[in-house]
Amino acid sequence: MRVVSGIQPTGNLHLGNYLGAIKNWVKMQEEAECFFFLADLHAITVPNEPAALSANTREMAAALIASGVDPDKSTLFNQARVSGHAELAWMLFCSTPLGWLDRMTQFKEKSGKHKQRASMGLYSYPVLQAADVLIYQATHVPVGDDQKQHLELARDIASKFNGDSGQDIFTLPEAYINGPAARVMSLRDGSAKMSKSDPSDLSRINLSDDDDMISKKIKKARTDAEVLPSEIEGLEGRAEARNLVNIYAAITDKSTDAILAEHAGKGFGDFKPALIDAMISTLSPIRERFIALKSDDKMLDAILEKGAKKAQEEAQKTVESTYKALGLLRN
Ligand code: TYM
Repeated sequence: MRVVSGIQPTGNLHLGNYLGAIKNWVKMQEEAECFFFLADLHAITVPNEPAALSANTREMAAALIASGVDPDKSTLFNQARVSGHAELAWMLFCSTPLGWLDRMTQFKEKSGKHKQRASMGLYSYPVLQAADVLIYQATHVPVGDDQKQHLELARDIASKFNGDSGQDIFTLPEAYINGPAARVMSLRDGSAKMSKSDPSDLSRINLSDDDDMISKKIKKARTDAEVLPSEIEGLEGRAEARNLVNIYAAITDKSTDAILAEHAGKGFGDFKPALIDAMISTLSPIRERFIALKSDDKMLDAILEKGAKKAQEEAQKTVESTYKALGLLRN
């Protein structure tokens, strides 16, 4: 089992990232060889202020370590330090049909009405993402539900390349999408994903939010006037209620059935304080560690540099066999 995953270093880590992906990273590093990275090359597909990007990259590294990613167990690095990601992406661009990229829903969402003004990088973003996982011969890629389509594309790209070259250059990676929080929704709108780009800060819980802020955001979270049901089917058509139940289940490592068994018949006046307590007891130690780590640039750089060295060694093997398969001459 070879586990690979990444996160964009834009802004803050939010509860969706933590419950949908990072919590699984932390679990998987106990059982598998893991490569986790800050996707800084993906971040530049949209305009960025250079100094902010460097700061955000270090800050996201601190957030991952604070969340339990252990640089002694996992290889932790930033993409830009491992040149093979960009090299392999180029080779994959050349065999990926445009039609496959035209189907990507995230590009449509992110480019909106201004497709002609979006960068080529934004359009071809999923091919770089395929390179990120194929380069390490990943078997499992722990992500939230929103990355499913990108992972399916990575498999298609790998199969096509293997087929075209008549060689098994790439392992076909499987998306690992697990748990009740694979898709954490906005606290203000149960039909929208919790996201760092939502203009309303009340829509998400950030790792940097203090206990009062967590409490305020959960109290203000949209719900409905009904009590909680005893069965999951009773949450049908109640997106906001279902989201809070899923968050509670994920944060306490319980099943949604167990949460409903505890809270059936109670309204949100009872449920929200219990949820706030559970969130604060999990998130406040992470926040404290994050605050302690984030100002130590030297330590963070040393960790990322060490991780990149190890990643580079692994990555280079795949890069060389890909060049060779294409007939490109190398020393
Ligand atoms: P990014 O930075 O948007 O998100 C990082 C991880 O958090 C998950 N996630 C969520 N999970 C549940 N509910 C949510 N509301 C939520 N929001 C985000 C994402 O699914 C992701 O797992 N393209 C990727 C980064 C990337 C990558 C890769 C991932 C680049 N290369 C290779 C895996 C493998 C991205 O922008 O994730």
